Amino acid sequence: MDLKERIIERRATRKYTDEKMDLETLKELLMYASMGPSKANAHPVEFLLIEDPEKKKALAELKRFGTKFLGEAPQIIAVLGDMAIDTTWVEEASIAAAYLGLLLEEEGFSSTWINIREQTNAEGKDSEEILREIFNIPDNYGVLALIPFGKKDERTKKRKPFEIDEKLHIDEF
Ligand SMILES: Cc1cc2nc3c(=O)[nH]c(=O)nc-3n(C[C@H](O)[C@H](O)[C@H](O)COP(=O)(O)O)c2cc1C
Repeated sequence: MDLKERIIERRATRKYTDEKMDLETLKELLMYASMGPSKANAHPVEFLLIEDPEKKKALAELKRFGTKFLGEAPQIIAVLGDMAIDTTWVEEASIAAAYLGLLLEEEGFSSTWINIREQTNAEGKDSEEILREIFNIPDNYGVLALIPFGKKDERTKKRKPFEIDEKLHIDEF
């Protein structure tokens, strides 16, 4: 399958079987996910693998919406950036997370993207701060997103073609 097919096949997936990816394979994917463009080649992006059942359960209430299923995900990657290196950690973590989504597809795994930055839980507590407390993440690290992943255990709709002519402006908006 080529890259275009991977892009078409990737759909946000929130139900997974219990099967986990082995650590060596995951490390390889994270290495490739880290190889995108980086300002001054500084590479501020790091990852946190979350597998502990109790810690995963705690994540279900991390945001007001969109996190209920996290307790059931077999594995979750938190995409972090060292904010002391550059404000571009946000762009660079986004690149890594997008690459990772496609690399997971290639490995036969599915995922979704849970945005964390500037989010709060139902009590108004900052989601990044909650993650720093649970996982001992240093204060200079931002958390862009959580990427839960596993073998797909739901049907997802096939994507329809996008109307790119509505989005492309040539020489003038
Ligand atoms: C910045 C961002 C934030 C998202 N936040 C959540 C979320 O909190 N919970 C969730 O289940 N999905 C989340 N998603 C996944 C979107 O719901 C999903 O990508 C969208 O419905 C389009 O579906 P697709 O990924 O299958 O194309 C998020 C995606 C992005 C890019």
